[in-house]
Amino acid sequence: MALRAPFWLQLFEQAGPAASGGRREQLVAALRTAMLRGVLSPGQQLPSSRQLAADIGVSRVTVEAAYGRLEAEGYLRRAVGRGSFVALDAPAAPATRVRRVETPAVLSQRGQQLAARGGCRDPARPLPFAAGSPDLRAFPLELWRQLLARHLRRGPTLLGYGDPQGDPRLREAIATYLNAARGLRCTADQVLVLSSSQQALQLAALMLLDADDPVWLEDPGYRGAASAFEAAGARRVAVPVDAEGLSWSPDQPWPKLIYLTPSHQYPLGMALSLRRRRALLAQAAQHRTWIIEDDYDSEFHYDGKPMPALQGLDEAGRVLYLGTFSKVLFPSLRLAYMVLPAALVGPFVEARTTQDGHSPQLAQAVTADFITAGHFAAHLRLMRRLYAQRRDALLEALRPMADWLQPQPSPGGLQLAALLPEGEEPALSRAAAARGLETPSLSRLYGGAPRRDGWILGYAALTPGEIAEACQQLRQVRL
Ligand SMILES: Cc1ncc(COP(=O)(O)O)c(C=O)c1O
Repeated sequence: MALRAPFWLQLFEQAGPAASGGRREQLVAALRTAMLRGVLSPGQQLPSSRQLAADIGVSRVTVEAAYGRLEAEGYLRRAVGRGSFVALDAPAAPATRVRRVETPAVLSQRGQQLAARGGCRDPARPLPFAAGSPDLRAFPLELWRQLLARHLRRGPTLLGYGDPQGDPRLREAIATYLNAARGLRCTADQVLVLSSSQQALQLAALMLLDADDPVWLEDPGYRGAASAFEAAGARRVAVPVDAEGLSWSPDQPWPKLIYLTPSHQYPLGMALSLRRRRALLAQAAQHRTWIIEDDYDSEFHYDGKPMPALQGLDEAGRVLYLGTFSKVLFPSLRLAYMVLPAALVGPFVEARTTQDGHSPQLAQAVTADFITAGHFAAHLRLMRRLYAQRRDALLEALRPMADWLQPQPSPGGLQLAALLPEGEEPALSRAAAARGLETPSLSRLYGGAPRRDGWILGYAALTPGEIAEACQQLRQVRL
């Protein structure tokens, strides 16, 4: 296959300017090194001098002169009318020398876009106020160890390949939990176990969207979702949110897919009202729009119960429900799940086999035990109590800053949004960072609507003492 222009340009630029002899010598050096390192292999055809000149932005005379030199040195063979080829006996790198492979990163157009737009990472060692971090110090490690040891004692069964849809026991446990606790109406056959919400979003984007298909995303909203849909080539349509959640206009053209966080809008914290839920489902059915309901932290609701999931109200089979164990158990477990409309299960499972095959068997088996033996419910009760105290401790500690930092109502979750005076977010964030604090940006979560300056302050991973200490520091950033 012909190599594309960025490959040749990168090769040329990596050689760096030659000490003398200008661009011709730079090109000679670039091609010679590529052949010696095996980046260009014997017999491979090089572009015509006209093409290469256009690709790397030099004159055709320069390329002709460089090709001539390499031919004279025995690196190239040129045949009139046929082209220029790497000579079959061109000197190769000595076999005994360790090769330093410096192959230029020749990326596909998709790869270039992906790398350029940046990924979405969570901090390995979160500082105070990092968003989305659960308290891992409160995790029942000893219990987990015992459950794991029991499986390991049983022999190597769980060391082999597993069901790409997920361990049937875990799927059953997830379906039972969701039907009882979140008002879903599903069976274990509709559950697909994956490694993360991020994988679920990527899979959904891959399976449901074509290039340039419009996708509605809440504005402000979750960057992980925006990344997954944009990486798939979809077109992001930012839809504002108000006190009732997603707020679309009646004359707006309907998209192929809508992603939203209806129980606890990320990052502002409101719930999608029942009136909007009904309207959304009715219109999605009419326009055959898919809805991804990301229920990422509904387990942590502190003031009464959260609203039941949209999926339970969906009569037309348009909702893909998404949940994760990253927050309720621990992030490195790498287990999340989707509840799919029945018709999507088969195609999604097939597609999943082309990604990572299946989720780890041991982790799934232990998680299934943890849920069915009642430990999950007990752990959630404990964490809900701890996190509720911490939210209250944060609200209390922020009170002296009320003239410049305004927390938004937050009935649950691991973090809360707080608004800053317009235009001050960058400077205040820098001042906070200098004091060892992480203050995740609210304004960066907007895709279109007028941006609000603010922070998304994570509190769940901090004890009340740590919250008080971090807030002492925070007070200093705007005295
Ligand atoms: C809205 C939302 N969905 C999903 C996730 C993360 O899920 P996972 O770790 O399973 O990718 C997060 C993490 O902060 C989130 O904020």
